[in-house]
Amino acid sequence: MTTPAAREGRTPRRASVADWRERGARGERLVVVTAYDATFARLVADAGADAILVGDSAGNVIAGHETTLPVTLDQMIYHGAAVRRGAPDACVIVDMPFLSYQVSTEQALRHCGRVMQETGAQAVKLEGSAPGLTRTIGAVVEIGVPVMGHLGFTPQSVHALGGPRVQGRGVEAADRLLDAARRLEDAGVFAVVLELVPAALAARITEALTVPTIGIGAGPHCRGQVLVLYDLLGLTDTFTPKYLRRYADLAATVRTAVRTFGDDVRAGSYPDATHSF
Ligand code: KIV
Repeated sequence: MTTPAAREGRTPRRASVADWRERGARGERLVVVTAYDATFARLVADAGADAILVGDSAGNVIAGHETTLPVTLDQMIYHGAAVRRGAPDACVIVDMPFLSYQVSTEQALRHCGRVMQETGAQAVKLEGSAPGLTRTIGAVVEIGVPVMGHLGFTPQSVHALGGPRVQGRGVEAADRLLDAARRLEDAGVFAVVLELVPAALAARITEALTVPTIGIGAGPHCRGQVLVLYDLLGLTDTFTPKYLRRYADLAATVRTAVRTFGDDVRAGSYPDATHSF
């Protein structure tokens, strides 16, 4: 694949997360979209997203698993490297999968290091805020790897949370989530994803932090928004969370295109002379 930089004869100048705090403070809304392969990564980058998140939602939308728990480190590296090849100039953030960073800080450092070395990503994302984990996040940040945090509904804890439920409802739960966000900021994250959080609480957390919050199902007051590409495109047409706005109906487009191809083949009208050698 010829990259834009190669076509123009220059070294790729990659977007980074180094200025996210300032951009958030300036009131610039950050746009993050997931991708898992080179083709979609190129389109997402062309469309001007600030970052591509190689989410472990790949386990759901690509592999068909019910949860993200079966996703492995090697799979995330495979998807991350594909996204990097498709979008060489983009800011790429790779999700660390379940059990790749929770066992020990040393293991987390090695695994985050592998992701950075083998994918060419600029950052990793880790879910949660337990005390051991914030120490680990601090250690990862200390070796020069930017970390995005993820609070609220954290899909890798789906069984403990009892399903994809809104988190932080009620005064105590809200205070706990705010504290968790502060701990992540203290640990050195460059941004925090807030997933399934009441809009008012997301606003409070956004105000309390100097790093940007990136919402998904967390209302309009976050400094940025993220959506899973397949949801945004309307490919996952049986998935209907309240927060989701579909910007296309590609499920219908795909069905119609494949059905029409089938009709043409069965009728003998494809390939015709113009599509033959
Ligand atoms: O895995 C993912 O796609 C995510 C986003 C939903 C934030 O973590």
